[in-house]
Amino acid sequence: MRLAPHRLPPLLTLMLLMVLMVLMVLTACARADSPKPAADIDKPARRDAELIAASKNPATVKAGKATYTALCLACHGAETAKGDSPSNLFDPKWYHGGRPSEIERTVLVGFLEKNMPPWGEVPPPENPPALVAFILSQQK
Ligand code: HEC
Repeated sequence: MRLAPHRLPPLLTLMLLMVLMVLMVLTACARADSPKPAADIDKPARRDAELIAASKNPATVKAGKATYTALCLACHGAETAKGDSPSNLFDPKWYHGGRPSEIERTVLVGFLEKNMPPWGEVPPPENPPALVAFILSQQK
């Protein structure tokens, strides 16, 4: 008796390909959102270095820009904004601390009394570092 050569049924092959694609997309997202959120937030010097490194990673900056556009642009304006005010995040002057770790803390904690909202539960907490990386990458 001759056995037929072993072949996967087409449907199974298609499903395996789809699983592979989903895995690839997930890995790409994980990479774009690195570095990890706020783990080193209480070690400012190390956190500053991590955020500055992130601001030089084009994929992270791109992810941060998307979050900025969705959540911050309406109040803070575009990175091309001119003039000095607490709401311009791209001028050289900071009112609430300009160290990268301080900017991240501002984004997480907010100042509700001045209409700056704290970071919410949704969207996911991986985004603030990318967001800060984007802000740092656009400093004038
Ligand atoms: C509802 C409007 C609003 C939204 C939305 C908002 N902010 Fe703000 N933000 C403010 C205001 C107003 C201030 C200035 C507070 C003050 O007068 O000191 C501020 C201040 C800041 C500061 C401090 C600036 C400095 O000079 O120290 C940072 C950093 C900041 N916002 C980042 C963000 C980011 C990032 C987002 C998006 C996740 C965001 N904000 C969303 C209104 C907003």
